[in-house]
Amino acid sequence: MATVKNRVTKAVFPAAGLGTRFLPATKAQPKEMLPLVDKPIIQYGIEEAISAGVEDIVIVTGRGKNAIEDHFDVSVELETFLESRGKSALAAEVRAISRSLAYVRQGEPLGLGHAVLTARPLVGNEPFAVILADDVIDATPSALAQMIAVSEELDGPVLLVERVPKAQISGYGVIAYEPVREGVYRITDLVEKPEAAAAPSDLAIIGRYVLTPDIFDCLEDEAASVKSGEVQGEIQLTNGLRRLLAQRPIYACEVSGVRHDTGNKLGFLKAVVYFALKRPDLAEPFRQYLDTLPRA
Ligand code: UTP
Repeated sequence: MATVKNRVTKAVFPAAGLGTRFLPATKAQPKEMLPLVDKPIIQYGIEEAISAGVEDIVIVTGRGKNAIEDHFDVSVELETFLESRGKSALAAEVRAISRSLAYVRQGEPLGLGHAVLTARPLVGNEPFAVILADDVIDATPSALAQMIAVSEELDGPVLLVERVPKAQISGYGVIAYEPVREGVYRITDLVEKPEAAAAPSDLAIIGRYVLTPDIFDCLEDEAASVKSGEVQGEIQLTNGLRRLLAQRPIYACEVSGVRHDTGNKLGFLKAVVYFALKRPDLAEPFRQYLDTLPRA
């Protein structure tokens, strides 16, 4: 059985989805590039991965996602310009963004499971993290670091879960579980987007996964079932995980921190306000401005 004991050093960022909930903003611009104050959404996730010890990052992209590659590319002209204007700190910040990332194209957006499978040649036979950049999590230590600690301790895959009100549960993958200890669970089943009445619990899967490479064969099997018509719809990561659950224990954990789902408009707006109010240079004047707004 694939182990997690050797460190998790790779992270996959599926970013090939169409972002339809954010149209028309996402017609010509990836939703991962929408800024929370002055930093694109995906950069929060990449900084989280790096702070959790990740060294190699794979971004799964698709049509219309070039801005992501441009953002993380080295920009000598911009750095030189900033240096020449005496803005060395800003130049250093821009340089730090230019990390060495790998990109793989999904071709067709056939589902999250398919996006993860597309990264297989770059991940190889090692444990790895999957980060859905939409879920921006403010936590110390970072959400991924907290999850990696649990996965190393239990030596198995770990999914991030959060308690979600019944009215919203049908938008998520949901777990059935046995408790291991406070905030840590052994998964007994997973259901993708259940009707509220059929949801096995209120613990919903959030956009962070620590996985073992045996998930890839499970995703291949799931892809074959979708292709043959035996399974309808997209190649779901949740269904791949269900197959993996038949082979090995899978765990889930909650983490302390604040999560924003920036993939929908309200969640995005909340995140912008949250991060603006955390910025020493903006907090005070922004708060003053918010206080002047009429309620109606
Ligand atoms: P979402 O369910 O949020 O879909 O995907 P989406 O297309 O990004 O956005 P909406 O729902 O149309 O507004 C969850 C994650 O999986 C990635 C997305 O980029 C996002 O990070 N994904 C989804 C892929 O990379 N490929 C796919 O085929 C589907």
